[in-house]
Amino acid sequence: MAKNRRTQGMPTRVELLKNNKLSKNIEILNPNLIRIFEKKNDTSLFSLNLEKDEDMEERFLDISSERVITKFGDFEVKVDDCLNVSVLKNGHRYFEEYSGDDTEIRIIDQVFDLAALEGHAKQEHIVEFKARCNFTLFSDDDKIYGLGDKTAHFNRRDFEYISWNSDEPTQHNETYRSLYKSINFLMVTHDGMWYGLFYPSSYKTVWNLGKYNKKYMYYGSEKGENDYFLILGEGPSDIVKTYYKLIGPQLFTTLKFMGAHQSRWSYSEAEAREMLRHHVEDHWPLDFIHFDIDYMEDYKVYTVNNNYISDLKSLSAEFKKDGVGVITILDPGVKLQEGYEIYDYLTAHNGFAKKDGVDYVNAVWPGDSKYPNYFKKEVRDYLTAATADFMEKYGISGIWCDMNEPASFKGPLPSDVEFADDEGRVLYHDRVHNLYAEYMSKTVAQAFIQKNKRPSVITRAAFATTSRYTTSWNGDNQSLWDHLRASLPQLATMNMSGFAMNSVDVGGFGNDCSKELLIRWTEANILIPYFRNHSCKNSRYQEPYAFDRETYDICKKYYQLRYDLMPYLYDLQWQAHADGSPMIAPLFYYYPEEPRTLEENTEVMIGELLLHAPILNQGQRSRLVYFPEGRWVDLFTKKVYEGKKEYIVEMELGATGLFAREGALLPMYQGLTSLDKKQIDTLYICPVAGEGTDPENIDFLPYTNHEDDGESLDYERGIYNETVYSYDGKKLDAVKVTGRYPSDYKQVKILPF
Ligand code: GLC
Repeated sequence: MAKNRRTQGMPTRVELLKNNKLSKNIEILNPNLIRIFEKKNDTSLFSLNLEKDEDMEERFLDISSERVITKFGDFEVKVDDCLNVSVLKNGHRYFEEYSGDDTEIRIIDQVFDLAALEGHAKQEHIVEFKARCNFTLFSDDDKIYGLGDKTAHFNRRDFEYISWNSDEPTQHNETYRSLYKSINFLMVTHDGMWYGLFYPSSYKTVWNLGKYNKKYMYYGSEKGENDYFLILGEGPSDIVKTYYKLIGPQLFTTLKFMGAHQSRWSYSEAEAREMLRHHVEDHWPLDFIHFDIDYMEDYKVYTVNNNYISDLKSLSAEFKKDGVGVITILDPGVKLQEGYEIYDYLTAHNGFAKKDGVDYVNAVWPGDSKYPNYFKKEVRDYLTAATADFMEKYGISGIWCDMNEPASFKGPLPSDVEFADDEGRVLYHDRVHNLYAEYMSKTVAQAFIQKNKRPSVITRAAFATTSRYTTSWNGDNQSLWDHLRASLPQLATMNMSGFAMNSVDVGGFGNDCSKELLIRWTEANILIPYFRNHSCKNSRYQEPYAFDRETYDICKKYYQLRYDLMPYLYDLQWQAHADGSPMIAPLFYYYPEEPRTLEENTEVMIGELLLHAPILNQGQRSRLVYFPEGRWVDLFTKKVYEGKKEYIVEMELGATGLFAREGALLPMYQGLTSLDKKQIDTLYICPVAGEGTDPENIDFLPYTNHEDDGESLDYERGIYNETVYSYDGKKLDAVKVTGRYPSDYKQVKILPF
């Protein structure tokens, strides 16, 4: 094979010596990925793809006498006397480990003392780090994006975060340091350049993004090693894709899962039937109803309370007949109760976490409970079987994994709670806490995979690699305009971290949703990858039909739009699974060279072809919209907007700023109310042309569409169709790239825009 010019002759590993002692290693996995470490983290509990580029030469370099380690493409990797690594790009400072001597950590502890003085629990703060690395912030304009589900704006500069999966029911605001997920991946941009960092450890990790000293940021970890990946690239999209290769592939879930989900804690049987009636009689699009914890007997997992739902099996059959699947919630905590099968089995088989030699007990919804040790295969196999049996017995289509941080109502789990693995090796809680949800999700997903089904699994907590097994949502937000605003950066940041099928509770979980908030939230989130309206017990009901006719009609119109655009959303999921491309992205993902995009928190891209600038404020009826390069057409009014400009756009209640790139070919369905493949016999292709523009004068972009059965794993064996459509303003052309799936489409038709 011809050698790649970029990698030829590059050392794959450089050992840096200080006073003749090995102090640091630089391992070059490919021209975009460098691992810098003193000692590697033990990553055996989660999967990373660590293969090196095939054509890289195995070459070690003793750097004790050299300062420039390697040069490739535009990059030059260097090291200074203190072994700080830096990278130049075309001779410009691109990445640096910080070498200043002002890196002492100044914790402003009074804040926490004040809280303690006022009787609040003293917040834990880490000051002693076993591993810590400082990275230069070049100027006040450097921007930092990433770290997963945080309720902040895209740019997380100046804040401090802690990767420690946490179930915090209080109102998440932009300074919240730990939420449900721990994703140690971020991207930095300065002076038009971009790089990424990934810290591969499941131990509690602090990310200080310039809070104490604006000249540097750092990660610090109590127990992890000094070891991180530096991701080089031209811009955010290639950094995201390189990162994705390291942690993916993420789960590719079903077509049906991408329909609308309706949930509340907890629906009674009568309320569930009322929902189904709206679906059947009013043609309100719906694919899933969720049953929250009250369907269980005393919150015991894998049981059903027949006083709450008299016959779950016939109820789910009733729903299924009308195209609606049932998803039930599953918590990890197992009620401490002798005679309860799951409890007895896991107790007898040493299947629970232990402390000081005995099963560890804390409390969750069922009261005193024990925590299954998912790190043991025997436990996983048992609970996979229990999940499969439960789904089979009651006709359940999906499982919603909650409380898997793991949550605990009697204080945090001590760090020495033990989870023994199959070899009897003890894994302590401080190492596996952030991985608990991953192992639970994997256990549940297996119940689907065993049957050649793509998993319909949802998780609340997650680690960087957890999307391999499950979709996710971002936990207990509230019915607040602030949380509607936060939803876009949250979802798009998760999407840039390999978690495409991510959701927030539409309408907000806690507090009372108003009519206006529900309408605006539905408009703003209607094209998010996974769409679920969910609310808390005792809050105002917030189903689209819970308010008045106007609310219902507006929401229905948008639900229908989601279903009509489903082939486009499905293709986005296909691509996300293939290479980590976000389904929902910040504007800067596609237009990093337009400075106006770097701090844009209120507009998002849905794939490359749609731009969404919704109303996110109470009482607002128009807003400023920034259009990136190109010409953009309002999906509803057909008005054209020129790129690299800002416009004020009117958006009455019921109108949202949704724009398509002129020249796009949008694949669509028409009028479906559930995603049943049997109902789908026509694919429409809609050529986007602005009002008054002759389609023959537009250069339409070719569009690649994917089709398969939407539910099995057969696509992995190549059973799918890939078709490239093109249009010259008059005639549609289709070129089949692969075609092993017997197509459901009897026809492909042009749908006039
Ligand atoms: C947790 C979940 C929420 C669920 C509730 C009851 O708070 O985040 O979605 O409704 O528990 O199960």
